Amino acid sequence: MKSQSKYKFPAFAILLILIPFILTGQSNKPGEEYVPEVGQQGKDVVWVPTPQELVDTMLAIAKVTPSDYVIDLGSGDGRTVISAAKRGARALGIEYNPDMVSLSKRNAAREGVSGKTEFIEADLYDTDLSRATVITMFLLPEINLKLRPRLLELRPGTRIVSNTFTMGEWEADVHVTTEDNRNS
Ligand SMILES: C[S@@+](CC[C@H](N)C(=O)[O-])C[C@H]1O[C@@H](n2cnc3c(N)ncnc32)[C@H](O)[C@@H]1O
Repeated sequence: MKSQSKYKFPAFAILLILIPFILTGQSNKPGEEYVPEVGQQGKDVVWVPTPQELVDTMLAIAKVTPSDYVIDLGSGDGRTVISAAKRGARALGIEYNPDMVSLSKRNAAREGVSGKTEFIEADLYDTDLSRATVITMFLLPEINLKLRPRLLELRPGTRIVSNTFTMGEWEADVHVTTEDNRNS
């Protein structure tokens, strides 16, 4: 396992998850706190949360430390950003769904990491990524491909960790395959 890419472009690792995912989302009722549903529509990809254990694995693969700035593309309920902050990093979540952004902020506050986290309601295609030292994502193969030119603009040594999906013909420095069918 190599810790750093020998290439000029950012290091890339992929986490392969053996499905199935269990769709156990719960609907919220009027007046209740927003409760997202697994599989709910997102702008370009539905929301399926990365199980916490896999979030931790992704951050470990990227060797996230307090000196990092982590950006999660399509940050869902904020779990990756919050977990990065718990490792001491500063972290940004980019999420199109405003309800998920609000939920993420509440979750970050509950976990005591509001000061290290930021969540913005935005399209991941339109957001500046240049501060990132680590990019995490759980999107789709075609989205990953569209993002490649922007990822190549990041500073050398930036680590990119993709849950499940590849980056086309880019060869990952690290592959981790795990069997997991939990969603929380
Ligand atoms: C598969 S979920 C992953 C959530 C989170 N990163 C995780 O691993 O738990 C993808 C997320 O991307 C969001 N999303 C989809 N298209 C987006 C876009 N164009 N810009 C920002 N967020 C987007 C969805 O709303 C959803 O929350």
